[in-house]
Amino acid sequence: MIYWLNLLRPLKRRKYAARLGHRRIQLFAGLGLVGLCLGMLSADLNAGSAIITDKDIRARLALMREQKAALLTLSDMMAGRRTFYPKTAKAARRVLIENTRKIPRHFAKQRIEPNSHAQPEIWTRWQDFETRAQAARQAAKQINVGSVNGLRRSLPAMVQACHSCHQTYRATPNRAITH
Ligand code: HEC
Repeated sequence: MIYWLNLLRPLKRRKYAARLGHRRIQLFAGLGLVGLCLGMLSADLNAGSAIITDKDIRARLALMREQKAALLTLSDMMAGRRTFYPKTAKAARRVLIENTRKIPRHFAKQRIEPNSHAQPEIWTRWQDFETRAQAARQAAKQINVGSVNGLRRSLPAMVQACHSCHQTYRATPNRAITH
């Protein structure tokens, strides 16, 4: 009996080792996947800014991203993903009014880089570009931050104004609500 047990022990140990090895592979695969996701996320977040060297282009992208953040705050409140605070909503509306006002100034110089998505037509149809910026500003002013219902009524026109300019003057297709 003891003899048999001794014979079995190494066998069991080997099985255990094999199981451990398997687990280790799973762990490494898991970590690798997380690492990959993080890498992809940071690449996505840096897209646009990290690879653009021109300071004027960087400034206009920062202006756009700030608008996007403000719009996201409001649309999250509208959809109930975020608590509605009149003060926060008011501040976001202000950012949208201010930033849309600055669009023509930020695009006044014709600047193009391979990683910029600005279409050259901006500068050949400047009048139309400016008109769209003004329309966006009007839509920003019309945002009703008095209540969630107010947002529901007024935010679609804002999103539409962002979209409309991007469709004509931004090279990439609209990926999310603001792109
Ligand atoms: C009058 C035209 C116009 C309007 C209005 C406009 N955009 Fe843009 N937007 C552009 C152009 C052109 C680009 C591309 C700039 C570039 O890549 O150099 C852009 C780029 C962006 C980007 C990408 C920034 C990056 O880092 O690549 C975001 C985000 C964005 N816009 C958000 C918005 C939001 C939100 C609104 C509405 C509140 C809006 N835009 C309204 C013209 C406009």
